[in-house]
Amino acid sequence: MSEYSVSPAGERFELPQAADYAPELQRLETLVGAARAEGKEIVVVMGVGFVGSVMAAIIADTVDRKTGKPSKFVIGCDLPSPRSYWKVPLLNCGQSPVKAEDPEVDPMIARCVNEKKTLVATYNNDCLKLADCVVVDIQCDYTKHQLGNMCDGGVEMTALEATMRTIGEKIGGNCLVLIETTVAPGTTEFVAWPIMKKAFAKRGIDSAPLLSHSFERVMPGREYVSSIRDFWRVCSGCTPEARDRVVKFLTEVLNTEKFPLTVMDRPIESETTKIVENSYRATTLAFLNEWSIFAERNGVDLIKVINAIRMRPTHSNMIFPGPGIGGYCLPKDGGLGYWAYKHILGFEDGDEVFQLTPTAININDTRGLHVAELTRDALRNMGRYIAGAQVLICGASYRQDVGDTRYSGSEMVVRKLTEMGAEMRIHDPYVDHWYELEQQDTYPAPGHSWSRFFRNQDGLVHSAVEKDLPQAIQGAEAVILAVPHEPYLKLDPDQIVQWAGAPLAVIDCFGILPDDKIRRYFELGCEVKALGRGHIQRIKQEVRDQALARETARTVDPVAHLVPIQSGI
Ligand SMILES: NC(=O)c1ccc[n+]([C@@H]2O[C@H](COP(=O)([O-])OP(=O)(O)OC[C@H]3O[C@@H](n4cnc5c(N)ncnc54)[C@H](O)[C@@H]3O)[C@@H](O)[C@H]2O)c1
Repeated sequence: MSEYSVSPAGERFELPQAADYAPELQRLETLVGAARAEGKEIVVVMGVGFVGSVMAAIIADTVDRKTGKPSKFVIGCDLPSPRSYWKVPLLNCGQSPVKAEDPEVDPMIARCVNEKKTLVATYNNDCLKLADCVVVDIQCDYTKHQLGNMCDGGVEMTALEATMRTIGEKIGGNCLVLIETTVAPGTTEFVAWPIMKKAFAKRGIDSAPLLSHSFERVMPGREYVSSIRDFWRVCSGCTPEARDRVVKFLTEVLNTEKFPLTVMDRPIESETTKIVENSYRATTLAFLNEWSIFAERNGVDLIKVINAIRMRPTHSNMIFPGPGIGGYCLPKDGGLGYWAYKHILGFEDGDEVFQLTPTAININDTRGLHVAELTRDALRNMGRYIAGAQVLICGASYRQDVGDTRYSGSEMVVRKLTEMGAEMRIHDPYVDHWYELEQQDTYPAPGHSWSRFFRNQDGLVHSAVEKDLPQAIQGAEAVILAVPHEPYLKLDPDQIVQWAGAPLAVIDCFGILPDDKIRRYFELGCEVKALGRGHIQRIKQEVRDQALARETARTVDPVAHLVPIQSGI
């Protein structure tokens, strides 16, 4: 029976059969023959997911700086599996497998596939035999077994190890291999290189594999391509020859004139750079969680505190943590370092050495739970229960103005509130499908969904992301402003209450509401709560006092009732 791979848009592609492999290799050999005749270098990109598909297009778009002619022919290779195969036929039609806000992605892929004819995709990893250079962009996940306990997790090395074995079994001895995947420090030299050396030895190749490492710093959003091509890179090689080759390759494909390369002595140094860079970011964000709680309980607006601190140039990159720290990298990368220390590098004192990074990740992973508490309390202040309440969350993605929902704080909020019995609605202008909910049994992989940490999650597979805010908010008893998407910054309290049909609880997770809007919500009879914004109580009291003063004035002076009073407090 035929098996299919279904794209996120619902297109079904039949998986290749055994008989398809030989003609597919012939097709590639013909294309490679023609490309070689034109002097092009043949590059295979392993894994055409979020990173690999765009990196493949950037390489395929490369031109010889002297002649201006395309200098690389790229084969993007992915697995013939139900989960991933659909990316191959899509790419071969010139369509991007990733949905990106960057307007450069779609035309660049279409141009390379259809016009320049420098990019093709395949499921047949025999294409490795044709490569001058292989770029590895497959995933290397860190699985946590408990919510809020990073140390209990582990790195999933199987895919990477299998891929490195396949590469070692198929490439020529002179082929450069570049690992771009974010890996546990030590992986390139102490896991991947030995695997490849073994494979080379079996094949009678006596040279050392030319293995190098250079991690990606890609950022989802409108600068997606630029964040790969026009950005600083760090690289290293297992041998001086591998290092020279990777420097040459990256200099050709990236904008290294403006964004110079940093060349490290050993791969463990470039691998550690990525892990420390992201652990640093995760830690500084987590650090603000305790001050956020302090602020909430002591009448302080942490947003204003941060803005005051940011005036100092040395502290200008301090940012408010929101309801959680999502994206693919920050929640996992520190775990790769913690795990490597024990399992690759052989130290047993990881729990003593690593104090901050695991704590930071645990804090970030669970910060969204507090938003559920705030929502419950806001509704309680209005005399309502969270169980059965209609709650709208505005923003499903992990950061503003992107549609990337991976490990978003909003998911934690939705799951916790669902567990508590709330009826959740979702709005996001940038997200069409929230696969973490809709396909929670299989996405990101079977058994990996955050649904496993909560009860009462089954109904979330029927979640739909609304695009029409007035409709989504109609009848809502609480609205959670979870992500500072541009359209949410402009929302008018009077309009919101009018759309909702009655005063409602408003929960601000990201410092979205300025004080005048908070005040207006209170005047309209709403309840407002926010992460890290204790001064809200003061505003509430002021509105209450003013209402009381008006009330008193009206009893003393009967004409005072002509002043419009809208407060429901
Ligand atoms: N996505 C980001 O925002 C981002 C940012 C910086 C770094 N990274 C790193 O880049 C790496 C890739 O991430 P991603 O987001 O592209 O992952 P992804 O899951 O979107 O893509 C990985 C792809 O590799 C494929 N694959 C796995 N094994 C394979 C094999 N043997 N042969 C061919 N293909 C294979 C998978 O099928 C999948 O399509 C990760 O290490 C990640 O940490 C990602």
